[in-house]
Amino acid sequence: MSITNKELASVKVLKFNPAVDKEPKYETFSVPYQGLTVLNVLKSIYHAHDAELAFRWGCEGAHDPRCGACVIMVNDKPVLSCRKLAETEMVIEPHPKYKVIKDLVVDFNEVKKDTKKRTPSVQITIDYDKCVKCADCVNLCPAGVYEAKKGEIKPSAEFCCGDTCGQCVMYCQKNAITIKAI
Ligand code: SF4
Ligand code: SF4
Ligand code: FES
Repeated sequence: MSITNKELASVKVLKFNPAVDKEPKYETFSVPYQGLTVLNVLKSIYHAHDAELAFRWGCEGAHDPRCGACVIMVNDKPVLSCRKLAETEMVIEPHPKYKVIKDLVVDFNEVKKDTKKRTPSVQITIDYDKCVKCADCVNLCPAGVYEAKKGEIKPSAEFCCGDTCGQCVMYCQKNAITIKAI
């Protein structure tokens, strides 16, 4: 059975190896995507086109709590690649909050300090009876809203972009996060 163009996604991946490259650059791949997660698309790019591509995963969404290792940006939104279904057009980039080690692999211990405070436009609450302290929200939020402090997850709403992202709410596996406009 042959694969038609309609069954292929155009996937633009930002590649950068700080050890050898001067600048990051995008590479575009055409790969099957229907019914696949973004993580599976990355794996197929790795196996069929680019065995140098660096990306990370761990639990593949099967653990409770999830590991959060696969966090990346897809079309400007932070996602867990093991949970996000692939789309026909995707721009895939490393998460902007962290220093890039290679391609989509970032150093979670090296948080860039370029997140900025705003006048809070939302109120963020965590239901601590539901929260399992998986830290997915800490890793996922590009604005640095969540911090793990003394074993508790604390949100600082003044860093939130408002209602344009919403990914922390979508990916919290325990539905523990509520964001309300104020
Ligand atoms: S609020 Fe949700 S995503 Fe964040 S640590 Fe708790 S369970 Fe995990
Ligand atoms: S909605 Fe706000 S708190 Fe949630 S991930 Fe986006 S920027 Fe972070
Ligand atoms: S691989 Fe663990 S959350 Fe995606």
